[in-house]
Amino acid sequence: RLGAASRLLSGPAAPRALAAPARSAPRPWAATGGRDRIKAGNYWGRLSPVWGPGTLPCCDRGPSPGWSLPLVGQDFLEILSAWYCSFGSCGATGDCRVLNNVTGLESELNGQLHGQHLAGEVVLRAVRGFLQKPQPEKALVLSFHGWSGTGKNFVARMVASHLYRDGLRSECVRTFISLFHFPHAQYVDSYKVQLEKQISETTQLCQQSLFIFDEAEKLHFGLLDAIKPFMAHRDNKDQAGNRRSIFLFLSSIGGNAINEVALDFRRARRPREEIPMELLEQRLRRELLQPAGNGAGLLRLENLIDFFVPFLPLERRHVRLCARDAFLARALPYTEAALDEVAKMMVFVPKEEKLFSAQGCKSVSQRINYFLP
Ligand SMILES: *[C@@H]1O[C@H](CO)[C@@H](O)[C@H](O)[C@H]1NC(C)=O
Repeated sequence: RLGAASRLLSGPAAPRALAAPARSAPRPWAATGGRDRIKAGNYWGRLSPVWGPGTLPCCDRGPSPGWSLPLVGQDFLEILSAWYCSFGSCGATGDCRVLNNVTGLESELNGQLHGQHLAGEVVLRAVRGFLQKPQPEKALVLSFHGWSGTGKNFVARMVASHLYRDGLRSECVRTFISLFHFPHAQYVDSYKVQLEKQISETTQLCQQSLFIFDEAEKLHFGLLDAIKPFMAHRDNKDQAGNRRSIFLFLSSIGGNAINEVALDFRRARRPREEIPMELLEQRLRRELLQPAGNGAGLLRLENLIDFFVPFLPLERRHVRLCARDAFLARALPYTEAALDEVAKMMVFVPKEEKLFSAQGCKSVSQRINYFLP
């Protein structure tokens, strides 16, 4: 495993440098940070490529079609994909790696995503609508915006796990983290070639692909240009058949604008549920248009983005709910006092009013360690 990780570090000289981390294990709330995640020692430990028998549905035998396989052309991938899926019934897409459990997604969004009524609604509506289209004319592109810890990674993971049998580890799901996968601007041309290759191979191998770009605000515009053709309207329907792809861009762009709106509502004693989507969308677009802002890159995608998904700053009561979930997830008993204690450990802003958790629900699940017997 470490071998794969160190190959990654060696930069673009390693031909398959991009492949391994794409299948990182499901990450908890806690580990959703940007830079700190990269620094975390156990980051490498989580990069667990899962190949081997049993990782594919339909069959427990046969070779795993990994990137390690010598590539003998698109035909081969097509045949392989068809072969894996010729066993039993594999759902409407005909691809048994694909679950598309929208009901499950809905119930998890309702039960586990706290304080994000808009994000939950938009994601569900967008995904459901897209999956119902018999032949979507373009990829579904969602742009998640908000401070860290507000649930962007959490929702991306939920989407992966309800749409794919193997969730983030699925070979049809690729996760790219800007500073991790594409750290050096001088190698952008090389990254571009690898990224294009990965996306095109994944879309050939899978009836339905999911691409997640974390830290999208740090994505080089050259890479955005490389991704663009895969999201755009199709000029040749035959070539792509009925394949579909979903792109999720996660960024902190507009986080402050969203927070200002939430703060205004809070100060006016209006419930956050009354914040209209239109207002946030307008603010996000304005943010992307800031010439000096870090949204300039993402702006290149603007006409390809189907939905902006705003993540609001989280209040004390939401942090308590995250803490409760963390206790429940570990099957630990908890008290209301313990939930208050966890919330007390977080920093709340603005300084005077202390309304919103500066780190959202990030690291809440680690913090409950203090309460273990
Ligand atoms: C869909 O997800 C829900 C909740 O995670 C689960 O209970 C249900 O069994 C899933 N359905 C299928 C068909 O996988």
